[in-house]
Amino acid sequence: MTPFAKVERVPGDPILGLMEAFRADPRPGKLDLGVGVYRDAEGRTPIPRAVKLAEQRLVDGEPTKAYVGGHGDARFGELMSRLVLGDSPLPGAGRVGLTQTPGGTGALRLAGDFIARCLPGRRLWLSDPTWPIHETLFPAAGVPVGHYPYVGADNRLDVPGLLAALERIPSGDVVLLHACCHNPTGFDLSPAHWQQVLEVVRARELLPLFDLAYQGFGDGLAQDACAVRLFAEALPAMLVTLSCSKNFGLYRERTGALMVIAEDASRLAAVRSQLASMARNLWSTPPSHGAAVVAEVLGDDALRRLWEEELDGMRRRIVTLRQGLIEALRPHGLDARFAHIAEQRGMFSYTGLTADQVLRLRAEDGVYLLETGRANVAGLDAERLGSLAAAIARVARL
Ligand SMILES: Cc1ncc(COP(=O)(O)O)c(C=O)c1O
Repeated sequence: MTPFAKVERVPGDPILGLMEAFRADPRPGKLDLGVGVYRDAEGRTPIPRAVKLAEQRLVDGEPTKAYVGGHGDARFGELMSRLVLGDSPLPGAGRVGLTQTPGGTGALRLAGDFIARCLPGRRLWLSDPTWPIHETLFPAAGVPVGHYPYVGADNRLDVPGLLAALERIPSGDVVLLHACCHNPTGFDLSPAHWQQVLEVVRARELLPLFDLAYQGFGDGLAQDACAVRLFAEALPAMLVTLSCSKNFGLYRERTGALMVIAEDASRLAAVRSQLASMARNLWSTPPSHGAAVVAEVLGDDALRRLWEEELDGMRRRIVTLRQGLIEALRPHGLDARFAHIAEQRGMFSYTGLTADQVLRLRAEDGVYLLETGRANVAGLDAERLGSLAAAIARVARL
């Protein structure tokens, strides 16, 4: 028998399958609302100008390509800590450490390995629904997962269900929380809800693991970090995974970090020693370029200002498209039924369209969204909201 004769084929990622189907669709008016990347008015996923300028500086000024250390670029770590935690005293107190990772996914995997090795027996609790990679990545790292409700059958945030489920989670377990711009639903908790979640997390002595992949896409850089800041101030320890893919447009440069907040400097040193040893077995040292770009942008007043303006432009485009779609649905009498689209935050919307309706939109109109009803709002075309609304009205009428 040959070596690979018994290797079974597994199904591909459904989102990639949808991308292929979209590419193969010959209709000129087709619309891709499936893939989770930001798109501008021309349908492109742009490189922010601030990032381009920083890259140009690096081409001339980067002194070496020698490995960065196991935790990555220390300047990137400091600047990202500030971006996330604002003027919190925690970094100054030696309680915060960043380990640079290949993207937010790398940070999640490192967190998974850390939980499996250093917090054995702890289960990780995910929102239902959540980003599908959460469902597969943690079990692959050896961490068992459970679920807490997040969105009800009415396609609205289920805060009482969420709080009641958190109350039942065994003390010491880990709970993954989307810091902002919940993927896939777009439904975010209000500051008052976060306060309620914090009370339960504190009372049950749960370890929060925040996934912060869209800082700046929801309500603004500081507002999108408000839950992380609230919890960081109130709790002895937590983990935060960071991604620079969306807000810096650095997707393929694989730029992210795992942030640890520990009880004190000596606990932090112990945790970081574990992370360095685990990272060594995963990717040895992290890719440098994206983090060097981020450090260049955040560390330079002019570049930072430019980046913040560009990021705000992306955020405003999404908000405008959300409102525009509701307006376009108004003549069809569907604005109230879909009003939640304007209340959601970030790139994604759980539209409330059923799988049947999604399949009809795909077949009849060349509009591609996920069968769960998730749409990437940034993929909308402001010029064609009227025809999209008409198509939605046709398939969504009872
Ligand atoms: C919720 C969430 N977490 C983490 C990530 C990780 O992104 P990346 O690994 O590309 O930085 C994503 C990307 O889509 C995401 O949606």
